[in-house]
Amino acid sequence: VSVEYLDYDVLDDQGWTLDDGSLFGKAADAGLDATDYGTFSVTPERTLLESAEATGHEWPYSCRGGACANCAVAVCRGELSQPVNHILPADAIDRGIRLSCVGKPITDDLAVVYNVKHLPSIADLRL
Ligand code: FES
Repeated sequence: VSVEYLDYDVLDDQGWTLDDGSLFGKAADAGLDATDYGTFSVTPERTLLESAEATGHEWPYSCRGGACANCAVAVCRGELSQPVNHILPADAIDRGIRLSCVGKPITDDLAVVYNVKHLPSIADLRL
């Protein structure tokens, strides 16, 4: 399983939006460094956050137990399980927001925007 990732800070800087269908194409063409954009392999037994860390990425987190939303990602392609969620409201789940500290990939292909803790609707929830 592989995941294509993009830092939410880049969207903020570039004026791109999460609902842009060509978001990852734009990111691929933008000459971003590996902190901001790229791909890595995900082990299905690991959470997305654990796989990110195992491949040298430092993604935000705090509780690692589904309770703070610091690790939130927006799933733009594919799906991530969500076995534990003590923080995200139903409308965030409907918009594809998931917690990377507990979520494991359940599709072979995945694209996520990480660092969405800065999205205003998520920033308001964080503990
Ligand atoms: Fe707190 Fe994931 S790190 S919900």
